[in-house]
Amino acid sequence: MAGKVVDAEYSKEIEKARRDLRALIASKSCAPIMLRLAWHDAGTYDAKTKTGGPDGSIRNEKELAHAANNGLKIAVDFCEGIKAKHPKITYADLYQLAGVVAVEVTGGPTIDFVPGRKDSPESPEEGRLPDAKQGASHLRDVFYRMGLSDKDIVALSGGHTLGRAHRDRSGFDDPWTKEPLKFDNFYFQELLKGDSEGLLKLRTDRVLVEDPEFRKYVVLYVEDEDAFFSDYAESHKKLSELGFTPPSSSLKAITKNRNLLAQTAVGVAVAATVIILSYFYEINRRV
Ligand code: HEM
Repeated sequence: MAGKVVDAEYSKEIEKARRDLRALIASKSCAPIMLRLAWHDAGTYDAKTKTGGPDGSIRNEKELAHAANNGLKIAVDFCEGIKAKHPKITYADLYQLAGVVAVEVTGGPTIDFVPGRKDSPESPEEGRLPDAKQGASHLRDVFYRMGLSDKDIVALSGGHTLGRAHRDRSGFDDPWTKEPLKFDNFYFQELLKGDSEGLLKLRTDRVLVEDPEFRKYVVLYVEDEDAFFSDYAESHKKLSELGFTPPSSSLKAITKNRNLLAQTAVGVAVAATVIILSYFYEINRRV
């Protein structure tokens, strides 16, 4: 996918949208569904045919109606408010930026964000996202198709440290951890511990401790949260850039983003605290 032209003005809009997303995610406690939106837009990528991927196509009615995307209209609609304020930004960039911000404001790692993705009017066929009822070979089929590895599968599954399943969306219920608005390594801790009252384990979660290759990473991430954060940030960046060749001028934007991030680190820490404290009040809301 050839990138969009990213000039200084576009980079500035990205930074403004980043701030607006932080505020939106803090006020609506919607980090988990924003992360799920970013993942479902990107996770349709097919490296062989170079189709699907983070191209904003999930907003198309046809794709939003795929069974795997049940409930994601909530996140698409939240993003519409940001798009209205920053119309220059592509949907593809906006959804991936929302995923990056969702991880940061819940206390997770900083993920490099390079803008310049183009929107696609085409949606991939249904059935490219993983089926929660299947095992290790299915997970590998889906993630290898995207060009991702075993390490990516385990690290990215750690995204389930955020959020919960909703019976009316997926047929499953419950969160994966006791603090689903905090990004940490508790998803892996719970996986190693085994079943816990009130916590969810999908078939695709369980295989991460059953398959010896996957299990190595689960054990590492339980013992070393920094290793999880570092691998997660790398895998998330890969996921968010599937099929995307960043325009060279975006490199300047990365450096600028890093500086801005340092300046706003205190703001992020405050936002994360607000979100964590609000969890007990918000988690039962239908967001
Ligand atoms: C490995 C294969 C995966 C499967 C089979 C899977 C399946 C699911 C299912 C069934 C739900 C529940 C949806 C609902 O009822 O609301 C869910 C939620 C979620 N997933 Fe995954 N997922 C996978 C990978 C990922 C990845 C790679 C990420 C992010 C990097 C992710 C992030 C999330 C988040 C944050 C939620 C919670 C959404 C909310 O609270 O509204 N998932 N996933």
